[in-house]
Amino acid sequence: MLNRRHFLSSSVASSLAASIGLASPALWRGNLWAQLESLPSKLPDPSLFDRDEEAYWRELRQQFLIPADEIYLNNGTVGSSPAPVLRAVFEGYEKCEKLNEADPEDYPIWGYGPFNEFRDPLAAFVGCKRDEIALLRNATEANNYIANGIDMKPGDEVLMTDQEHPGGEHPWNLRAKRYGIVIKKINLPKPVINPGQILSLFNSYITPRTRVVFFSHITTVTGVVLPAKEICALARGKGVISAVDGAHVPGMMRLNVHDLGCDLYSSSPHKWLQAPKGSGFLYVRDEMIDRLWSTLATEGWDEPQLRAERFQRIGSSNVPALWGLRASIQMANDIGMDRIEGRQRHLCDYILASMVKRGAQTWTSPDPAMRCAIATVNVPPIKRMELETWLWKEKKIRIRGGEPNKLRLSTPYYLSKLDIDKFLDSFDEFKKSKA
Ligand SMILES: Cc1ncc(COP(=O)(O)O)c(C=O)c1O
Repeated sequence: MLNRRHFLSSSVASSLAASIGLASPALWRGNLWAQLESLPSKLPDPSLFDRDEEAYWRELRQQFLIPADEIYLNNGTVGSSPAPVLRAVFEGYEKCEKLNEADPEDYPIWGYGPFNEFRDPLAAFVGCKRDEIALLRNATEANNYIANGIDMKPGDEVLMTDQEHPGGEHPWNLRAKRYGIVIKKINLPKPVINPGQILSLFNSYITPRTRVVFFSHITTVTGVVLPAKEICALARGKGVISAVDGAHVPGMMRLNVHDLGCDLYSSSPHKWLQAPKGSGFLYVRDEMIDRLWSTLATEGWDEPQLRAERFQRIGSSNVPALWGLRASIQMANDIGMDRIEGRQRHLCDYILASMVKRGAQTWTSPDPAMRCAIATVNVPPIKRMELETWLWKEKKIRIRGGEPNKLRLSTPYYLSKLDIDKFLDSFDEFKKSKA
């Protein structure tokens, strides 16, 4: 375990401080490391959850560097890595930067290793085999592997929704412009009422030219949880490849990609799993691995026996981020994904019902199975950017919106009901000031 004296005396402290642009390591010591050291060294006792659930989450909140007076309702964009994850990243640096491995050929920071010590816990967490997972930097990168890697002829179709993130849609736009594939889009209702509505839309849009259905498991636009298992089964039944953008899923909801039955799955655990930024993954179903071309090529790109490992041959990589990824999985397992998901759903239902009571138009599904920890509401005539700026400047509350009047409210487990009430009171205050 890395201890403070050891850490401060190490050259790693200086080089890290320099790398983040601080003139004096002493200045830095007084900040990040001191803060980290002041946080509880252990997670709350799991039995506290049964005795006093609110107290359990309050104690867990202390693991985060987000200042106590800040309310962060934008976890859907990026999460915040808590103390166990940050400590693991530093330990990773300490291990990697010494360059004193026993084997003279063994240099830890590069992109040519199997990284099984990181792939194994991740594979167990998302429900697949190690050989089906490639460690990449984020969902955007993984989506590019998907869009570039599948054999398609000009005129072949990919079917997606109108709620894909640019990091999911644009890899296909590039391919369409360069190679003449055709993109078809389904307009999702706002809100989606039930899974049947979605399935009949997908069913009616699939044509004999459709090669791939690509969709977000949870969309960035409204946070709707699409019936991924049923869509993938529909696609398979018609001989179509299913590729799912799951940027929001790990750490928000329980996930089992085998159970989902998709061919490909991309993700960014830096959102809801609170992993370090730049630690993403691509899942490729075993039967699909030999059908997917690699996008980046270096040694190993054409070695099928590497299985999905060949997609993570991307050159020198940030190994300490993977230490953090592993710690974030450990932390979610220690808390328990059931508890995390339950808490996040509960907070989301609360914020949604409270906004609807205030007259907001909901774009969040009324079906509990089709929503989780993102509530989206439309609040005309309030201009979202005015509200966003005011909330941050006046109240230290961060939300995310969309033009012109949409609010997207993310409810990670580390928020409290009091935080949400403070947001609601602030919303009322702003609305009144505009009346
Ligand atoms: C559904 C979806 N896909 C992809 C992305 C892109 O994520 P990243 O920037 O981590 O690649 C996001 C980011 O918000 C997203 O919501």
